[in-house]
Amino acid sequence: MRAGLTKTGQKELYSKYFYDDLGTALFEAITLLPEYGLTRADLRLLSKHAGELAERVRHLSVVAELGSGSGEKAYRILPHFARGAGLTYCPIDLSGAALIRCQRDLDDIPDLTIVPIQDSYIDGLASATKLRRAGTSILVLFLGSSIGNFEPPVAEGFLETVRHNLRPGDVLLLSTDLVKDLDRMLAAYNDALGVTAAFNLNLLRRINRELGAAFDLGRFRHEARYNEIAQRIEMHLRSTADQAASINSQLRVELQSGETIWTESSYKFRTDQVRVMSDRAGFDCEVQWVDREWPFAQSVLRAR
Ligand SMILES: C[S@@+](CC[C@H](N)C(=O)[O-])C[C@H]1O[C@@H](n2cnc3c(N)ncnc32)[C@H](O)[C@@H]1O
Repeated sequence: MRAGLTKTGQKELYSKYFYDDLGTALFEAITLLPEYGLTRADLRLLSKHAGELAERVRHLSVVAELGSGSGEKAYRILPHFARGAGLTYCPIDLSGAALIRCQRDLDDIPDLTIVPIQDSYIDGLASATKLRRAGTSILVLFLGSSIGNFEPPVAEGFLETVRHNLRPGDVLLLSTDLVKDLDRMLAAYNDALGVTAAFNLNLLRRINRELGAAFDLGRFRHEARYNEIAQRIEMHLRSTADQAASINSQLRVELQSGETIWTESSYKFRTDQVRVMSDRAGFDCEVQWVDREWPFAQSVLRAR
């Protein structure tokens, strides 16, 4: 936080800090907004292809989901795998609130052991892979186009690290939001109700609460814009005045009127870009399922 807020040039904060209890609840609300088509596209694809996915990943002992949120998406597919197989589902998330919800909501799936892991993606995955039974495989879910929050080289490095935690034959199901009409992409991050604005501003509220800072939320404005060259939506918090805020009397952050704090990137993809990136990271792309209503892809990636 200190490094991001005292940077010369563009100030920035990591998007992973959005998800305190309130941020988690606000994200859940975002998934229900008419403008935010990503979640419904992911759910449609999972419902449509759950049977085929189960065929492709036989002899599973562990399903690990990176950034599971509420687990609503896993709920669509886990019953297809679980029958009598003695399957373990590991939701991995930094948010304790998300994991509590996950455990509660998926409790009624028969023959499923739920092992929530409150950790970052990769450390959580390393813990989950220890639960693999000999001679069985692992399915990793990375949904919601969360891969799009990473800069492209980081995304590729991330996939490589996931691959290193897996064995040949294991599968990664990767969701990616696709490039589409500008209006639709922008509306998804600029909803009319202002829920995304609240989600974005809550980052400063969290810093106020947890780090004893004194940001005046009334003097920031949510902004989402599309960077066509980089192929990404950028979310920013724009300062509407010259202001300074202290954090726990240790750090003074100064912002000029009009200056922004960059809080999130959401890269958009073309299906061929996903295949190239996965191939470089050591996965074979077996199939890609694309939602036509809201251009969005799920790629079934097999570890080589
Ligand atoms: C955009 S939400 C997506 C939730 C769900 N996968 C979906 O598709 O709707 C991202 C989730 O990942 C979690 N998260 C973000 N960064 C993380 C990280 N570095 N390690 C673990 N979890 C993370 C957040 O707490 C949040 O629940």
